[in-house]
Amino acid sequence: MITPSTPTETIDSKRVPLRKMPQGNMPVVGMGTYGSDSVTHEAVAESVLGSAEVGYRHFDCAEVYGNEDVIGKSFEQMMAGGIAREDLWINSKVWNDHHKPQDVIDACKRSIDNLRVDYIDLYFVHWPFRNFHPPHCNVDTRSPDSHPYNHSEMMETWETMEKLLSDGLVRNIGTSNMTQPKMELLLRDASVKPAANEMELHPHLQQPEIFNYCIEHGIQPLGYCPLGSPGRPERDRTATDTVDIEDPVIVAIAQAHNVHPAIICIKWAVQRGQTPIPMSTNPRNYIANLKAVVEDPLTAEEMTALAQIDKSCRLIKGQVFLWEGAKDWEDLWDLDGTITTL
Ligand SMILES: NC(=O)c1ccc[n+]([C@@H]2O[C@H](COP(=O)([O-])OP(=O)(O)OC[C@H]3O[C@@H](n4cnc5c(N)ncnc54)[C@H](OP(=O)(O)O)[C@@H]3O)[C@@H](O)[C@H]2O)c1
Repeated sequence: MITPSTPTETIDSKRVPLRKMPQGNMPVVGMGTYGSDSVTHEAVAESVLGSAEVGYRHFDCAEVYGNEDVIGKSFEQMMAGGIAREDLWINSKVWNDHHKPQDVIDACKRSIDNLRVDYIDLYFVHWPFRNFHPPHCNVDTRSPDSHPYNHSEMMETWETMEKLLSDGLVRNIGTSNMTQPKMELLLRDASVKPAANEMELHPHLQQPEIFNYCIEHGIQPLGYCPLGSPGRPERDRTATDTVDIEDPVIVAIAQAHNVHPAIICIKWAVQRGQTPIPMSTNPRNYIANLKAVVEDPLTAEEMTALAQIDKSCRLIKGQVFLWEGAKDWEDLWDLDGTITTL
């Protein structure tokens, strides 16, 4: 039995705007569930249940987070408590070492079982690589089997995602951590285009090219690390990283609205057209993050000011997915507009 904390305030979930997806409607803000090193699986499951009590209906899960079996108990409890399955929006993702067709099917069925549901609303390919690394490994670790993006492999995985869709195990399929050149190839060859692309998006990493490309092609961008992931572990930090919630433009707008700078990051994200998935185990914070999308929007001038503070500061660089011989983490992100090869 998961015990949520007593909510001090609730937001009617019907007030939370929805984004129309190929199958169903997705709330414009979701709860992240990656506890990394610092938050236990039980604490994440408590915040999932607690956040449902205050009005969240959208949850961003993944098998690699290692907590789907515990979070599943929270979903079971909320449905037993009267929240209908069709009012929930649940994401999950297939990890890099399960990209072969039967492995994708098995991973999806495992997530469905662990999450204690009959289907997943939005199922992602977590990274467009089969490159695998042990959990919590050092960022300099290189797997000898890792190699640059291989489109045939990606299509084999994607065709299985399409099968999950036609078999009814999932309602929508998506990609994550894609670049525009990889997305162009996928759109050229896929029978079903991705409904969504989950990517790092916060005011200091706005990724305007792939963001606009997704919007133009009807692919909904979901933004991870929407607050600039202030609690990420040391191994995911570098000396050049910037801090969104300390940015003077964000701080000034936050003062004008009398809220924490994190709330400005969420308002900006939703008003720009993406779907942020902030993670919090603190009820005061996750309540504020949901309230952010139902009241006191940013002005056009504030949105313009925020558009100008992009610093192209990628926090989740993905070094552990690099292959022997890669120059550096930028090889994963096709910065010159072409897919990096050996
Ligand atoms: N697809 C992918 O490859 C991928 C990669 C990374 C992450 N994700 C997803 O994105 C989610 C979010 O990313 P993230 O957790 O790294 O970053 P984040 O949501 O930007 O930041 C989370 C941190 O912000 C704090 N916080 C939350 N709300 C706050 C508020 N209102 N005021 C002040 N601080 C606040 C939290 O602390 P408290 O708990 O104390 O509130 C936590 O330390 C993950 O949980 C996961 O679901 C996906």
